[in-house]
Amino acid sequence: MNILVTYISMTGRNEKIAKHLVDYLEEHNADVTLEQMIETDAFALDSYDAVIVETYTYNDGEIPDEAQDFYDDLKDVDLNHTKFAVLGSSSKQHLHFGRAVDYFTMQLNSSNGEQVADSVKIDQDPDEDDFRRVDQLADYVLKSLK
Ligand SMILES: Cc1cc2nc3c(=O)[nH]c(=O)nc-3n(C[C@H](O)[C@H](O)[C@H](O)COP(=O)(O)O)c2cc1C
Repeated sequence: MNILVTYISMTGRNEKIAKHLVDYLEEHNADVTLEQMIETDAFALDSYDAVIVETYTYNDGEIPDEAQDFYDDLKDVDLNHTKFAVLGSSSKQHLHFGRAVDYFTMQLNSSNGEQVADSVKIDQDPDEDDFRRVDQLADYVLKSLK
């Protein structure tokens, strides 16, 4: 099974979570590609069995600038039931906690993807419980591919 993890990270939290996710998936025998979102071609997503999108949230609940092109391209993509999950660290100190996670979740569903796990929002630095939720998301993705 062939899984893409595409992420965006400004201060490193989401990068750390993405790397944890990759380690976990590889321990469970998945073939994983890790990419920064600016390098990800939205039109090639359906070549993966599953796609995991990870983003922070910026400026009053917005999608980060560097993620905008990828997000806009998704509007023209047919994911052909590609399985997906979304997660991200953002901050409860801001209004609209993790709203970019919601935007991506809605868009990937609109693009005809198949959501296989509830989206996970993490408040700032991930703690042990957050990593457990990340692993659980990964378990749902892996289970959906069996
Ligand atoms: C200027 C600024 C605006 C932000 N706006 C939001 C926001 O509207 N909602 C939110 O949930 N988090 C917001 N955040 C918090 C970031 O999403 C959070 O720090 C996140 O963990 C950063 O992830 P990274 O370390 O992977 O870059 C903002 C952070 C900054 C610096």
